[in-house]
Amino acid sequence: MKTKEYQVKNILVLHGPNLNVLGRREPEVYGSTTLEEINENLMNLAKEAGISLATFQSNAESELINRIQRAMEDDTDFIIINPAAYTHTSVALRDALAATRLPFIEVHLSNIFARESFRKESYFSDLALGVISGLGAKGYELALKYALAPR
Ligand code: DQA
Repeated sequence: MKTKEYQVKNILVLHGPNLNVLGRREPEVYGSTTLEEINENLMNLAKEAGISLATFQSNAESELINRIQRAMEDDTDFIIINPAAYTHTSVALRDALAATRLPFIEVHLSNIFARESFRKESYFSDLALGVISGLGAKGYELALKYALAPR
């Protein structure tokens, strides 16, 4: 049976702790692209596609949770999230995302499966629509392209 086509219109991109210093932070692991450049690229792609995109970064778990809860009240219909270190620790962020019931893609710049063993565990992957890990800044772009593709 063909499912009804559904077009995403309002995307929220969330960045967890320490991603504000991308570009300067262990560039051999995370690359030299800054967060501003990543966000700008996503904004441009969203604009071209005629959809709205909001970005939010915080080093604080509570602020990320508050922003996710706000997505239940505004018109957000898709989330792209790099939970950064909270990937491996935060039941609270996982629960916040689950509460929204919104589809989301989990993105990591580095390949978390090829690093320390504590990074192999994610509190998000089983809830995510999909996971992109190890493709650097390009991973966000691919996630956005998937979100924009009609399904
Ligand atoms: C990360 C991987 C995490 O293990 C790490 O704590 C980060 C960034 C990534 O994008 O590769 O801060 O999510």
